[in-house]
Amino acid sequence: MGEQVLTITDERTGKSYKAPITDGTIRAMDLRQIKEDAEDFGIMTYDPAFLNTASCRSSITYIDGDRGILRYRGYPIEELAEKCTFLEVAYLVLNGSLPGESELKEWVHLVKHHTMLHETTKKFLEGFRYDAHPMGMLVSTVAALSTVYPEARHVLDPENRRMQIVRLIAKMPTIAAYTYRHSLGLPYVYPDNDLGYTANFMNMLWKMLEPKYVANPVLSRALSILFILHADHEQNCSTNAMRAVGSSQADPYLSTAAAAAALSGPLHGGANEQVLLMLDEIGSVSRIPEYIDAVKAGKYKLMGFGHRVYKNYDPRARVIKWTAEQVFQVTGRNAKLDIALALEKIALEDEYFIKRKLYPNVDFYSGIIYQAMGFKPDMFTVLFAIPRTVGWLAQWDELMRDPEQKISRPRQIFTGSAERHMPAERPTIGVPVGV
Ligand code: CMC
Repeated sequence: MGEQVLTITDERTGKSYKAPITDGTIRAMDLRQIKEDAEDFGIMTYDPAFLNTASCRSSITYIDGDRGILRYRGYPIEELAEKCTFLEVAYLVLNGSLPGESELKEWVHLVKHHTMLHETTKKFLEGFRYDAHPMGMLVSTVAALSTVYPEARHVLDPENRRMQIVRLIAKMPTIAAYTYRHSLGLPYVYPDNDLGYTANFMNMLWKMLEPKYVANPVLSRALSILFILHADHEQNCSTNAMRAVGSSQADPYLSTAAAAAALSGPLHGGANEQVLLMLDEIGSVSRIPEYIDAVKAGKYKLMGFGHRVYKNYDPRARVIKWTAEQVFQVTGRNAKLDIALALEKIALEDEYFIKRKLYPNVDFYSGIIYQAMGFKPDMFTVLFAIPRTVGWLAQWDELMRDPEQKISRPRQIFTGSAERHMPAERPTIGVPVGV
């Protein structure tokens, strides 16, 4: 097939223009040639919230929202969740292919040997109030790592980038666990290099006085699956924040902190916490119809429902439902599951949700599992941030290697006042006395 071209006719001037079509897109800059006269700036697109704009070329994650498909580097999410460990998937997302035996050994060793936090970082965490939200503590502490590793600012050096990527992936569970221990007033537990990624995280969360913490293998595997499901999700709000901040060549700790801040909002990663609060508010299956009516009247949003990209069942929600069954065999059934299942059933049969293609997303069931495992709702988004760090860093590394990328800088349509001036009689401010 020859070159595909879009022909645009400007009815203001009667002129026609051509814009090549590549991968189903035209270059926004090709619209700039369309001018009313020589003085004109040229046509721009207006796309608040990026509903129809591709901001990059990426080979990491593929989503087909209509068919409910999610793949990392070509592998369906369901297969990765079934057959891989989280660190294997992290390697895949970062490097493009699954690790061989020796590569995996080396990768796991590297991550395990960078889990410790500098003691000053521990002291930094101690400065937070006892009731500080764990996401606020996580965002600030990740940003503070920028002061511990000043060499991280050499973002154009691939080896340097790799070092910071390892550090961030290794230290995220430690920071997360310390925020949890801080909120309970418990002493921090140092990482244990004998343990796997999620078992070590559980050790740092829940070890008390026993000499060696032994994680329940079913729960440790469930956490690993949840981490795999959350590792990347292409150009979502937080990844876009990572790329936008990273495009200024800020160091990866500061960019990751910005991404985590974006994740914390209730419309993004903060939704899992909101789902639990919503299920608490609903309280019983009998109150669901009343709640659904309030949602349809625009009083609330059904948290954990709807997605910008998925207009079908979120494939991650399906795996999470399966994982929940495994977890409940160990922890006992979370009573909220019955409310959630009934809520999902009623919503999926309701015209309002059918018409808008609103299905459960990843956040709908994850909180129920996390709560059954013993987490408080304010930790849920932190649990999302740990694995998503892998995706943020893979996307950041891809950005740094992309010769087409520059500092991220959208345009605007100015809607303010035209030029105006201060009243002529207004005096000039002199130097104040005492300055
Ligand atoms: N409950 C009720 N109505 C909804 C919901 C919902 N959860 N989500 C969307 N709608 C309605 C919305 O009011 C609109 O209706 P209308 O056409 O009558 O104005 C229509 O559906 C389209 O929604 P939208 O706001 O244009 O969709 P969006 O793509 O801008 O928003 C979303 C996507 C995820 C922010 C939104 O669905 C939402 O707020 N969901 C609840 C929060 C949530 O679960 N977030 C987690 C997302 S998945 C994980 C992640 O990325 O973090």
